[in-house]
Amino acid sequence: HAQKSFVNEPFTDFSQASNQRAQAAALEQVKNELGRTYPLIIGGKKIQSDRTFNSVNPGRPDEVVGTFAAATREQTDEAIQAAATAFESWKRVPASERAGYLFAAADLMRQRRFLINAWMIYEVGKSWIEADVDTAEAIDFLEFYGREMLRLAGEHPLTRIEGEENELVYIPLGVAAVIPPWNFPCAIMAGMTSAAFVAGNTVVLKPASTAPAIAYQFMQILEDVGLPAGVVNYLTGSGSTIGDALVDSPQVRFVSFTGSREVGLRIYERASKVHPGQRWLKRSILEMGGKDAIVVDETADLEAAATNIVGSAFGFQGQKCSAGSRAIVVDAVYDEILQKVVEKAKKLTQGDVTQPETYMGAVVDANAKKKILEYIEVGKKEGKLVLGGGEQGPGYFIEPTIFADVDPHARIAQEEIFGPVLAVIKAKDFDHALEIANDTEYGLTGSLYSTDAAHIARAKEEYHVGNLYFNRKCTGALVGVHPFGGFNMSGTDSKAGGRDYLLLFTQAKAISVKK
Ligand code: SER
Repeated sequence: HAQKSFVNEPFTDFSQASNQRAQAAALEQVKNELGRTYPLIIGGKKIQSDRTFNSVNPGRPDEVVGTFAAATREQTDEAIQAAATAFESWKRVPASERAGYLFAAADLMRQRRFLINAWMIYEVGKSWIEADVDTAEAIDFLEFYGREMLRLAGEHPLTRIEGEENELVYIPLGVAAVIPPWNFPCAIMAGMTSAAFVAGNTVVLKPASTAPAIAYQFMQILEDVGLPAGVVNYLTGSGSTIGDALVDSPQVRFVSFTGSREVGLRIYERASKVHPGQRWLKRSILEMGGKDAIVVDETADLEAAATNIVGSAFGFQGQKCSAGSRAIVVDAVYDEILQKVVEKAKKLTQGDVTQPETYMGAVVDANAKKKILEYIEVGKKEGKLVLGGGEQGPGYFIEPTIFADVDPHARIAQEEIFGPVLAVIKAKDFDHALEIANDTEYGLTGSLYSTDAAHIARAKEEYHVGNLYFNRKCTGALVGVHPFGGFNMSGTDSKAGGRDYLLLFTQAKAISVKK
């Protein structure tokens, strides 16, 4: 398996009738499994709880996807204890064996691909394609981190001196609190979790409360490949009850989080406090939001720019940290781009994502809908509403919404909305556009549409984002190809899917033997 070098998992071609049929059949099968009750998994034991919460279909909120245990603080401590106990044996399992679990999990995920897609379609409102890309990325993370662990476990040449033999080995840290987001509920969840445990750590996984069913499917896969009990513990429940308890625990060695800036900052502060009995400085790896821009200059292919502004802004209802929520366009081509973007966005289909042709579903939950609608009201005062702005119920549907002539310092140009809302901003010229693009506290992704070599060269130097793209959309980073992570308030730039990533979950030990 690992003999073959890493290649990205291909996306499913849904124009083929056989793939359409397979996805439709998987949707039928999962439909029959909706509404079940799920336990916590602590030390391999399935534990029911008296207190529960529901995960629902955002497009049809009366459809319960699953009922999940709301873990107590006591159960949180038990999960941490189970992970700490498992660490004592897991850390001695050879790296090649640990990597083997990831390769086996990737194989199972390939076999269950349409089912996993279906869970995402129901639980978070992904379109077929968005769901399929998410599953492909999860497979990529497993294949990539498995190989990376083998590399890390290999030799790391040191400077030689006379009379000594020296080596450097990467050893695990300990118990991880892994807190993934709901927007890539398979890929990022599986990537964060598997990176932590392949490096020899053990995990308490706290899935997002709007996407616990997908995480449970992953737990099932880990059980099916025979991952020892306690290496990954599954702890569902409210962030305010168990999130703080995990982050504060003196037994937790590091926190790996992807989510909002607000929660990321809370974790950053809390994790820095050393509690009684704590023997280490807790590490936190935090990936947060973005206010990502697509800049278009007067030399750009306007058709391609407009197409990919729309794709970056409205794919998965704009709920990506990488989403292009600002289009910054130079005066000379502003009107033309705006017109093309509006025209293309008008054609997007929205509705029932169980149908293959639907491009957009609902936003993730009632809170998200409320917050996005509030931003749309703010936008009406700050810019010119040129498309959308409306909503539909009972599902959490919000139309693709575009505001034109937005001031670069307007709230809708500065704050992450995490929904289908695009701010179009006019710049005097390229210099001004680049200045606007950088004038944000975030720095995750950014794109420039241009054919001007000097502009491209300047952007490479000055466009301050972790993932910079030219003449393509600003979403859709590929594992291994585009190591992903951002600057400033976008987080710790951990570069998921890159060759430095596993180092974050290890510590290096230099061993010297006098001869
Ligand atoms: N990796 C995703 C993207 O690039 C975001 O998390 O869109």
